[in-house]
Amino acid sequence: MPLPLEVYAERRRVVLDRIGARGAAVFPAAPVAMRAADVEHRYRPDADLLYLTGFPEPEAVCLLLPGHPTDEFVLFVRPRNPERETWTGPRTGVEGAVEQYGAQSAHPIDTLDQKIVEYVGERDALYCAVGRDRAFAERVLGWLRHWQQCRPRTGKGPTALLDPAPIVHEQRLIKRDEEIDRMRRAAGISAEAHLLAMRSARHGEPEYAVEALIDHTFRRLGGNGPAYPSIVASGINATVLHYTANERTMRDGDLLLVDAGAEFDGYCADITRTYPVGRDFTPAQRAIYEVVLRAQAEAISVVRAEARIDDVHRRAVEVIVDGLLDLRVLLGERAEILEKDLYKPFYMHRTSHWLGLDVHDAGAYKEDDGGGRRLVPGMVLTVEPGIYIGPGCVDVDPRFAGIGVRIEDDVLVTATGCDVLTAAVPKDPADLAAVRRSVGP
Ligand code: GLY
Ligand code: MN
Ligand code: MN
Repeated sequence: MPLPLEVYAERRRVVLDRIGARGAAVFPAAPVAMRAADVEHRYRPDADLLYLTGFPEPEAVCLLLPGHPTDEFVLFVRPRNPERETWTGPRTGVEGAVEQYGAQSAHPIDTLDQKIVEYVGERDALYCAVGRDRAFAERVLGWLRHWQQCRPRTGKGPTALLDPAPIVHEQRLIKRDEEIDRMRRAAGISAEAHLLAMRSARHGEPEYAVEALIDHTFRRLGGNGPAYPSIVASGINATVLHYTANERTMRDGDLLLVDAGAEFDGYCADITRTYPVGRDFTPAQRAIYEVVLRAQAEAISVVRAEARIDDVHRRAVEVIVDGLLDLRVLLGERAEILEKDLYKPFYMHRTSHWLGLDVHDAGAYKEDDGGGRRLVPGMVLTVEPGIYIGPGCVDVDPRFAGIGVRIEDDVLVTATGCDVLTAAVPKDPADLAAVRRSVGP
């Protein structure tokens, strides 16, 4: 469901004000990705364009012209075309772009090159992210070439090409109420899917049976589908960070790592739980699990306004290092292990990323002082420590070999601390064992 038009207008106002009257900004739609010769992937709009306009169709461009007397917000869109619409469904069209999306002017997308050189020809700077789509970048080069050729006679035309992403992404980083509502829905749908998975995964069945249940639940509960390919990784597969084949047969005695999150109205959730396929953890699995659980709890306890995102990671790393030293998976001096990152064979990724319209959402992780970003109410980040004792980890007690554990929740920074949006999915070992014992043979 698109948001009220005023919400998009307020977001654009921030960008218009930052760019100023000498600049113009262009936000293109994501290109259609092909799956096979003439078969398209399901279309996912570019998050910046969606954030600023709500316009969801491919082949669109938003042009912002700060201070323009009549056309501050212009949309270029695919025109209506009854023959094409028979194949791919209704298009909003030029009139719809004005009536439904509040564009002050709208034009057919095939007039873009001609109109841009007119609209932007008297401004000094063009803001456009050219690094994402080579075909669109070629188009932008064509406009720049035009202005370069004309400038000796006209004395006009942008001389600067700038990236608008930081302006938009700083806004996207702080979620407002209407966004948090959607993130709560994405989290709720994802939590329900994880609970169903936890109650159904069983020995002798393929990982994809769990994947199917999860993805089915995302859609059934009104989500757009998975926010990223669901990871259902049993046994040694849990040590592969982005395992998505989901084809192994689950066995009693395995751990099952499920990393799956729904998208709802464009907003993503991202949850990981790890639990036994059988009725309970082995002692070695439980020992590793408890280290990760403690690392996550400690890391979440750091999340509050003014803390730095690097502090969240550091705390998780410290707890993991202490736990692995206790278990003698790591040997040596704590300080040296931390200083030289000697834990990385077992914990090789960061603890957090931003979450929002994209699963790895937009926004800088560093402050201008070079330190980690200070948290602000409205930011949403994951907290997802893990320990992975994969085939590359030699000289480890064989009891621990092949164990992979990650625990991931989505955390909203609030005025008073933080709110774990995905807390409904059990992670305490006793709660997990209770759920798993209720699963039939
Ligand atoms: N599921 C992707 C991630 O956890 O970052
Ligand atoms: Mn994540
Ligand atoms: Mn994840």
